Amino acid sequence: MPGLATVLIGDDPASRVYVRSKSRACAAAGIASFEFTKPPDARLSDILSLVEALNRDERVDGILVQLPLPSGLDTRCVIAALDPGKDVDGFHPVNIGRLWGGETSLVPCTPQGCMILLRHVLPDIAGATAVVVGRSHIVGRPLAALLVAADCTVTLVHSKTRDPAAICRHADILIAAIGRPQAIGDGWIKPGAIVIDVGINRVAEPDGTAHLVGDVDFGAASRIAAAVTPVPGGVGPMTIACLLRNTVLAACRRRGLPEPLAPIQ
Ligand code: GUN
Repeated sequence: MPGLATVLIGDDPASRVYVRSKSRACAAAGIASFEFTKPPDARLSDILSLVEALNRDERVDGILVQLPLPSGLDTRCVIAALDPGKDVDGFHPVNIGRLWGGETSLVPCTPQGCMILLRHVLPDIAGATAVVVGRSHIVGRPLAALLVAADCTVTLVHSKTRDPAAICRHADILIAAIGRPQAIGDGWIKPGAIVIDVGINRVAEPDGTAHLVGDVDFGAASRIAAAVTPVPGGVGPMTIACLLRNTVLAACRRRGLPEPLAPIQ
């Protein structure tokens, strides 16, 4: 049975929810999951010892360290300690390099999920103009690598970009990953575009309740675009599906078995 270890450091409520939902998905898919938690004031040396033990653990095919880490902990140092073959997030420098080099790698889960959604509605994306809003290490940058590999013409828009709306208005494919509620709406979307909304933002109502919205104004995008992903229920479930996918791939590679899953292109 493939096995996934999750490592949650600190007490961020959203991270706790994400890790729980990943473990539940493993149980539903027949993947063993092992949850490890550390307090917010955990020492870097303790975390590195845990990662090294998981690297050696024969039951564990994939290791996921939930991000963000509590402030003061060096994220790069923790990620670099992972066995690249067990790095099911695809965040290790070896996997980042392989991704940009077009080699087989463990591809970050959210970008992988975006590509599957995109290919579903637009099988031939070669030559399309793709704009990714947000240059995070988790989503924007690896997604740009996948879109380049898929022969799109790619622009990364970020907080210092001049007139981002004007650039987005030219996009056949627009992917929003900035973490700003409904920031992208009228004036940002080309008629007929494919819009993928990676944002998950908790918005408080005056009555004290909260609900989730994306980075895209869904109403505006529904009127203008050819297709738009909802929040919740769009990219989020794809991220979890791709985590399971990477865990199965890592398990097959570690055991020298043929890979049952086609590469994401
Ligand atoms: N925090 C937000 N998204 C992710 C993800 O895909 N993987 C990990 N490890 N942490 C995250």
